[in-house]
This record gives sequence, structure tokens and C-alpha cells, in this order.
Amino acid sequence: MSATPRTPPTPRLTVTDLRAAKAAGRRIAAVTAYDFPSARLADAAGMDLILVGDSLGTALQGHATTLPVTLEQMLYHTAMVARAATRALVVGDMPFMTYQAGVETALANAGRFLAEAGAAAVKLEGGHPAAVERIRAMVECGIPVMGHVGLTPQSVHAMGGFRVQGKAEADAERIVREARAVEAAGAFTIILEGIPEKLAKQVTEAVAIPTVGIGAGVHCDGQILVWHDLLGLTEGRVPRFVKPYAQLGRAIRRALKAYRTDVAGGTFPGPDHTYH
Ligand code: KIV
Repeated sequence: MSATPRTPPTPRLTVTDLRAAKAAGRRIAAVTAYDFPSARLADAAGMDLILVGDSLGTALQGHATTLPVTLEQMLYHTAMVARAATRALVVGDMPFMTYQAGVETALANAGRFLAEAGAAAVKLEGGHPAAVERIRAMVECGIPVMGHVGLTPQSVHAMGGFRVQGKAEADAERIVREARAVEAAGAFTIILEGIPEKLAKQVTEAVAIPTVGIGAGVHCDGQILVWHDLLGLTEGRVPRFVKPYAQLGRAIRRALKAYRTDVAGGTFPGPDHTYH
């Protein structure tokens, strides 16, 4: 008998479905995931969109920023997630310097997310003219793109740190302009990260495509959180916008301690966990 390939058994949500969600007044629930078991859980929970974010640089790899994440690493993680998702739309995040340097490299790299890793779309940061040009070129080639404006972590050094963006009027106006330009270039959704609630509402009303917020308040068309933040796996202080829906870090620590105690005391394995 031949091995059964892991092809999506049920129709996944498409970019058309997500675009239509805004018109229908249906909010988009999204989360990041970086591997097969996590993506399977997210998919089973009914997430509309799973982003394989370059936040894996900080959440998984232990870096202080997302800048060291490579294209090969993103493709590796995206492929795991795409194998698990049966319904959610899978978006692969383009890491630092894989789209900034020029249109041709950007297109070739974006194409790999769809052709090799099984993503249905890519995400890239920024609404400045170069980013908008890349988005337009990708969309023209049939690659759906999710935009990302406001706090764009790949520009951490240019922003002077991870700071809320768009507080000053001129910055707020720029962010609205950028979101409109990202939409005009053909993006199907846009992440609004780290901006005041009032500005997120303004952007959401200014564009016809859905906005998906993280640290941008309740008026966005959808929300996204990072897996480790959402589940209480992030050690130390989490940003104000994070609501941990579980305390898995504590639960894991308790379980590991109990196991260690059992091994040290000779009570594991017991008769139930032994072949007689
Ligand atoms: O990399 C990521 O996970 C992201 C989300 C925070 C939107 O860009």
C-alpha cells in the first residue's frame, strides 16, 4: 500500500473568503503557529488564518529581534504548518531582507512560500513606496499578500525600539496613507500592529480590505496574537495588549517537576507503564 500524502482534505478558506468577511461583518480570528502540532490545534479551534510569523525569531529561537530569521527557516516552519491546516488560510511571513532589496528577489522568494512550503499567501512589512511596489508585483503574479503597517518589527532599529507608532498626527496620517497604498496594490488583508485604537479605527474605516490587529484595539476587522503569548508560554513580562488565555508555561513546569521527582524517587515507571 502506498503512503497517503498529506494533502488538504477539505477546502481551506481562501483570500476571497477573508476579503468577504469584512463585508459580512464577520471578525477574523488569527494566531501565529510554527509547527505541525500547534497548527493542527489552531486549525481545529477554528482559526480563520494561521500566520507563520517571523516572530519565531523571538518566540522560538531566543533572539531579541526578528532580524536574524532566514528564508530557509521560514520555509521549513511554513511547510510544517501548511501540512497541518485543513481549513485555516496559511500565510508565510517574509523575513528581513528577502523582499526589501529588489522586486525580482522579492518575487522569487515569495513564490517559494507557495510552491515549496504550501502557504496560500505571504506577508511583508511596510507601506512605503518600495514595499507597495513589491506587493503589486506579487499580486500581479498571483501571489496573495497580507500587508503590515504601524509597528513593523523588522524596522526596529529605524523606529528606535519596539514603540507604539502613529501617536503624532503626522505619523498617524502617514499610516493611513500607507494602509490605503497597500490596499491599492492589491493586498487582501492588512496587519495593524502597535498603534492607538483611534487610529486603527480610522484605518479600518478607510480601507475595504480587512484589518487584523495586534496591539491595535478592538475596532479592527480581526485580531491576531503570537502563539506563546496567547497560551502563557512567554517567560517574563508580556506587552499590555496580550491576554494569556492559558498558563501553559506553569503547567509544563509542574509536569516536568513531577516527572523528575518520580524518576528520582524510583516511582516511574510503575507497573502500568511497564511491559510484563
Ligand atoms: O511575525 C509575526 O508573528 C507577526 C505578527 C505579530 C503579526 O508579524
